[in-house]
Amino acid sequence: MQTLLRIDSSLRKEGSYSRMYGDIFVQMWKERNPGSKINYRDLNKDRIPHLRQEVTQAFFGRAEDDGLLEISDMLCEEIWESDAVLLTCPMYNFGIPSTLKSYFDHVIRVNRTFRYHGDQGYEGLLKNKKAYVITSMGGKKTDLETSEPFEQYLQQLLGFMGIEDIKMVSINGTASEDFILDQEIHYTNQVKQMI
Ligand SMILES: Cc1cc2nc3c(=O)[nH]c(=O)nc-3n(C[C@H](O)[C@H](O)[C@H](O)COP(=O)(O)O)c2cc1C
Repeated sequence: MQTLLRIDSSLRKEGSYSRMYGDIFVQMWKERNPGSKINYRDLNKDRIPHLRQEVTQAFFGRAEDDGLLEISDMLCEEIWESDAVLLTCPMYNFGIPSTLKSYFDHVIRVNRTFRYHGDQGYEGLLKNKKAYVITSMGGKKTDLETSEPFEQYLQQLLGFMGIEDIKMVSINGTASEDFILDQEIHYTNQVKQMI
């Protein structure tokens, strides 16, 4: 049985394009993977706290645990048990939402999701997992083939943990008045073709 982890990060509960296309993805996923398990993490609803010094020390075994790793343990286990991750991510001030950054700060963890091999570098431990990334941004891209820095950053974060099979649909121009009419069918098809 396949397990999909869906992570939403738009601060909008309604009117969010990334969430809307995330819903379309999940609908298609269920059709293609009947009986699959879907775990849902809404980072705007359940906020992941910013990292603290004690938590990072506990990551390296340099602090009494005392429940410091509870959130990180839970998030690492959740992504470990997933076969695929659906990430929906708006562009905020040229970057990713701070809620999503906090999430990555807890899951990018030594000996859990990556290993350090000294001079030989780093090894991502989340192998054989797929990631589907749906990004949204208000501005129009001038070159549709080029990823924005925040999209490249998402690929870097996932790749660092070993997730290299990444498909991305980039919804751009959501601030334009004619966005819906022009683009809805186009993006729906793109999202459906991801799976
Ligand atoms: C705080 C904030 C910052 C934003 N910064 C940018 C930006 O830097 N570039 C851009 O093109 N759009 C920016 N936008 C517009 C969003 O990317 C756009 O509304 C997108 O559709 C949001 O995703 P959603 O529809 O899933 O909520 C910003 C929106 C907000 C609320």
